[in-house]
Amino acid sequence: MSKQPLLILGPLMPYLIEELGKKYEIEKLYEEKDALGFLRAHAPRFEAAVTSTFTGLKADMIDLLTAVKIVSSFGVGTDSLDVAYANKKGIKIANTPDVLNEDTANMAITLLLASTRDIVANDRFVREGRWAKGEAAPLALGIEGKKVGLVGLGRIGSVIATKLLAFGCDVVYHTRNKKPDISFKHYDNLVEMAGDCAALIAILPGGEATQGIISREVLQALGPQGTFINVARGTVVDEIALVELLKSKELGRAGLDVFVDEPNVPADLFALDNVVLQPHMGSATVETRKAMADRVVSNLDNYFAAK
Ligand code: NAP
Ligand code: 8YV
Repeated sequence: MSKQPLLILGPLMPYLIEELGKKYEIEKLYEEKDALGFLRAHAPRFEAAVTSTFTGLKADMIDLLTAVKIVSSFGVGTDSLDVAYANKKGIKIANTPDVLNEDTANMAITLLLASTRDIVANDRFVREGRWAKGEAAPLALGIEGKKVGLVGLGRIGSVIATKLLAFGCDVVYHTRNKKPDISFKHYDNLVEMAGDCAALIAILPGGEATQGIISREVLQALGPQGTFINVARGTVVDEIALVELLKSKELGRAGLDVFVDEPNVPADLFALDNVVLQPHMGSATVETRKAMADRVVSNLDNYFAAK
């Protein structure tokens, strides 16, 4: 039996390409010199396509995928995919939720501990020989017994909350809808929550609806003793305000996995000792990336098996 054609819109990890190639006749659109010309000639062959949160799926691409009925995306976030337009055009979108909860939550906890305990700054302090010269590193901050506010309490946020409890933190949260079955205190007002918290962790979707929701006012309320952690999307925070407030120490510390214009990071952050930076690594472990890849394949398989 001949394999089903499958259009791959952007680069993917080699393991995923290999797995897809076992079941599908894959076509890498991103390797075509004239992608537009290729689509004009061959789009009717493809009922299925694969993308990622990195490559996305914009309306103009959707218009070119004239026969596509399913797009399987690598990643849980859908902010770079025009899901509403795809659905309007009769295209189903599949993503990779849940399998990345633990590792993304672990990144949030790692950034929280690394920021509050000055891990990166102190690593530099040792390497630069300052300890050996008799200098003392400043005291850091503890998290035990501290109030930590989650902005978002969905699949990943709930796992972060469970892990925070093991560190003796008092977990509170802000979402649009209060969860009836959860005992953590819910705040309607994000500024008020930030004012009560020692740390704020952003773990909500990106996109227009959440653009800049963590505003200058929220960060100021968190204050000089406060720590801001972002494992969501760069767009959920006012990044200009974030940089200014970290520089002036009106915000104490930050741990950032995500940025507005990845892979470009505001250069002013590079000189700061009170921020820990990561190149969007929340789900980036061998185990989780394999599980996400397997989910991309099974989502397609389920579609073709009409599940
Ligand atoms: P989820 O299960 O859909 O949870 C989203 C949470 O955000 C819900 O509690 C939701 O509650 C809340 N929320 C949504 N819109 C909001 C708003 N306008 N104001 C306040 N709260 C809002 O999503 P998830 O699976 O936990 O993933 C969350 C996001 O994490 C993803 O969309 C992705 O962008 C990001 N992520 C990043 C990495 C990384 O590598 N750094 C890895 C995985 C995921 P309500 O609906 O009640 O408001
Ligand atoms: C991935 C993510 O790093 O799933 C998401 O939404 O942000 C991450 O897990 C990335 O999107 C893979 O393309």
